[in-house]
Amino acid sequence: MRHLLTGFEFSQDEYLDILETASAMKKDPAKFRQELAGRSGAIMFEKPSLRTRTTFELAFYRLGGHGVYLDLQNGELGKRETIADYSRNLCRWVDCLVGRVFSQRTLEELAQYGSVPVINALSDLYHPAQAMADYMTIQEHLGKIKGVKVAYVGDGNNVTNSLFVAGAILGANVTSFNPENCTPDAVVFSKASEIARKNGCTIAVENDISKLKDFDVVYTDTWVSMGDNTPLDAVRKKFNPYQVNKDLVDQSGAQIVMHCLPAHRGYEITDEVMDGNKSVVFDEAENRLHIHMAVLAKLINA
Ligand code: CP
Ligand code: NVA
Repeated sequence: MRHLLTGFEFSQDEYLDILETASAMKKDPAKFRQELAGRSGAIMFEKPSLRTRTTFELAFYRLGGHGVYLDLQNGELGKRETIADYSRNLCRWVDCLVGRVFSQRTLEELAQYGSVPVINALSDLYHPAQAMADYMTIQEHLGKIKGVKVAYVGDGNNVTNSLFVAGAILGANVTSFNPENCTPDAVVFSKASEIARKNGCTIAVENDISKLKDFDVVYTDTWVSMGDNTPLDAVRKKFNPYQVNKDLVDQSGAQIVMHCLPAHRGYEITDEVMDGNKSVVFDEAENRLHIHMAVLAKLINA
């Protein structure tokens, strides 16, 4: 049974295979219309979503399968019945579980007690399918992933962790620029660093934003993630030096600017950059669909 819980589950070849399949599906979707005929999945969200929900539902549809959306935004999994029982029920009906959850542990329990693949659609720790779509977008715009220099700028979070994991596996050099105490997860960092070392690339964390020079990609995300009720204005002072504005992009030398979205314009990214000619944020959003199709096909048909 293969799952996508963290992104560490797949080898470089498997990542490249998923990216290639996603590109093929993007180019010629008609060829894949029967890929998941008669198959289904439960799509469970404890947190809000535009992109991930829409694209997982459409991914099932485009492959001839069906995704059943379960709205959990009014109650976390495990409240009405145990996560184990929830999983055991669903696995009698569907071929895959897609979950956006507060705690990574919830996904691990779904996988532990279930009998079908579980896909992480964002947790407190990871956003692995997002990172796959991001590297697909980098490949499209820069023609390569290996050796590309990616600067993540802002709050070290689930998205940063997943950019580290997928970057290390795919051979990218990823540096996360964060204020002190806003760095990515230390355990993920050390596991990803080990993989990067073997693959001849680097994963790094840096506080000093003046070192943001000579990069190919600048990537940012919200300063406050879902589940944290801190108002953005309360953290503005701390994060202001890390705002992705025109000066920072010019300083970085980057050819493209990325954001997983939703963007908080005027906070982590300015309108000028978000709407500027280096911005590829809507290509990333589009690629979520193609990556989800490829991941579902790979895991369900495994
Ligand atoms: N990037 C992303 O996961 O967007 P949603 O929260 O809208 O799904
Ligand atoms: N870090 C953000 C990503 C949203 C797609 C969050 O978890 O809210």
